[in-house]
Amino acid sequence: MMAPASPRREILVSLLGLGVVGSGIASVLQSKKSLFASLVGCPLVLRRALVRDPGKPRLIPNSFITTNPEDILGDRATDIVVEVMGEEHPALEYVQQAISAEKHVVTANKEIMAKHGPDLLKLASQKEVQLLFEASVGAGIPIIAPLQRDLLGNNIASIRAIINGTTNYILTKMANEGQDFATALRQAQELGYAEANPANDVEGHDAAYKLAILATLAFRTKVYPSDIHCEGITRLAPKDFRYAQEFGYAIKLLAIGRKSNGAVQVTVYPALVPRDEIIAKVDGVFNAIEIKGDLSGPVLFHGMGAGSLPTTSAVLGDVISIARNIAAGARPAPWLGMDHGLNIKPVTQLQTRCYLRLLVADRPGVLAQIAHILGDRQISIASVIQKDADPKEGTAEIVIMTHPSLEAAIQDALVRLNELAVVKKVASFLRVEST
Ligand SMILES: NC(=O)c1ccc[n+]([C@@H]2O[C@H](COP(=O)([O-])OP(=O)(O)OC[C@H]3O[C@@H](n4cnc5c(N)ncnc54)[C@H](OP(=O)(O)O)[C@@H]3O)[C@@H](O)[C@H]2O)c1
Repeated sequence: MMAPASPRREILVSLLGLGVVGSGIASVLQSKKSLFASLVGCPLVLRRALVRDPGKPRLIPNSFITTNPEDILGDRATDIVVEVMGEEHPALEYVQQAISAEKHVVTANKEIMAKHGPDLLKLASQKEVQLLFEASVGAGIPIIAPLQRDLLGNNIASIRAIINGTTNYILTKMANEGQDFATALRQAQELGYAEANPANDVEGHDAAYKLAILATLAFRTKVYPSDIHCEGITRLAPKDFRYAQEFGYAIKLLAIGRKSNGAVQVTVYPALVPRDEIIAKVDGVFNAIEIKGDLSGPVLFHGMGAGSLPTTSAVLGDVISIARNIAAGARPAPWLGMDHGLNIKPVTQLQTRCYLRLLVADRPGVLAQIAHILGDRQISIASVIQKDADPKEGTAEIVIMTHPSLEAAIQDALVRLNELAVVKKVASFLRVEST
C-alpha cells in the first residue's frame, strides 16, 4: 500500500508571460482563491510572473514580476509553471527546462505543441511530471481533455473543425453583409479580432497548428503542421458567398482530419458546407470541433475560441487538475503514446466534390469544351448554372458543381481550363464538404 502523501501547505504557480491570458490567470487565482483551495485541498498561490517589459503597468504587485526566466525555471519552490508567452522561441526552451527540472507545466501555446508536442510529452513522461495544454486549441472549449480521456475507447474516424475565430468572423461578415475580404478584415482588426499582421490567421496556419494537435491526439499518430495541406481565405469573393447560398451552402474555413485504410488526410481550406449542418451555423468568433468516434458517433464541441477569460478557464482547469494530483501525492499516468505510425495521405488523393466559377466567352459551344476537359479526367458534372452575363465584354459567368472526383484530376483540369481560349479566367475553385 502507498504511504499517504504528507499534506501540502500550498501549491505554487509561476507564470511565464503576463499578457492577455497571463493577467486573466493572475487575477482569477486571486478572485477565486477560496474555491480553488477547496477544490485542491490547499491554497493555489501565485509565486512569480515573467515579463519582457518591467515598466508596463500590471494588475499584480511588482514584487511578483521578474524579467529573469531563471527566477522561475531555477526556483525549487515553484510546483507548476504556466507558459503563456506565445511564439516558438524561447517558450520551447523554457518549457523543456521546466520539465527537465521536474516541474509540471501547463501551456496555451499551439505553436510549440503542434511542432514539438510529442517530444515534450515524452520528456514529461520520462520526468514523471504532467504537461497539459487544454488552452492550445479552442481556448475555453474543452477538447484536449475529452480526446485524452472521455473518447479514448473510440476509434476516431474524423475531425472537422472551425478553429480560427478571426477567419470565421471575416467569413460571417462576407456572407451576411456582402463585404469583400479587405473590408471584413479591416473591421476585424478595428474590433481587435485580427492582428495587425493577420497572415497567420487568414492564410490558415493558425488552424493548421491546432489541427496538428487534434489529429495527433485523435489518431494517436504524429501529425505535424508541415503534413497539413493548408489554404487560406484571401482569394474568396463576395459572389462566391452569394452563389453558395443559392446552392444551399455556407463557406467555412475547415480544418479536417480523416483516417481511412491506415492513413490520415489532414487539410485546412475554405469549403462549401451544407447549410443544414450544425457546423455551417457556427458564426462570428465562435469555434466548433466535431469528432466522429465509432462508439460516440458525431460529437460537437462549441464555444469561445479566444479571449482572456475563456483561455484562463482552460488553463486553470489544467492547473487545478495537476494541483489535485500533487496534493493527493498521485503519480501521473504513463504517457498514452502516439505510436500508431499512420501514413499521411497527400491532398492529391482527396476525393471531393467541387464548385467552380468560370468567366467565359459568351458564345455557343463553350460549355462543350469545358465538359470535354472535365470528362476526360473522370470529373462528372452535377449541375451548371449560367450567372451574370456582361454583353459589353462578351463574357458570361458559369458555376459548375461536380460529383466527387480525385483532387489530382481536378487540379490538372484547372490548368487545362485556364489554357482554353474561351475561358477568360477560372475565378474560383472551392471544395464542397459532405458528411
Ligand atoms: N489571447 C487569446 O485569446 C488566446 C487564446 C488561446 C491561446 N492563447 C495563447 O496564449 C499565449 C499567450 O497569449 P496572450 O494573448 O496572452 O499573449 P500576449 O498578450 O502577447 O502576452 C505575452 C506575455 O508574454 C511575455 N513575453 C513574451 N515574450 C517574452 C520573452 N521572450 N521573455 C519574457 N516575457 C515574454 C510578454 O511580456 P510583456 O508583458 O512585457 O510584453 C507578455 O506578458 C499564446 O501562446 C497564445 O497563442 C491566447
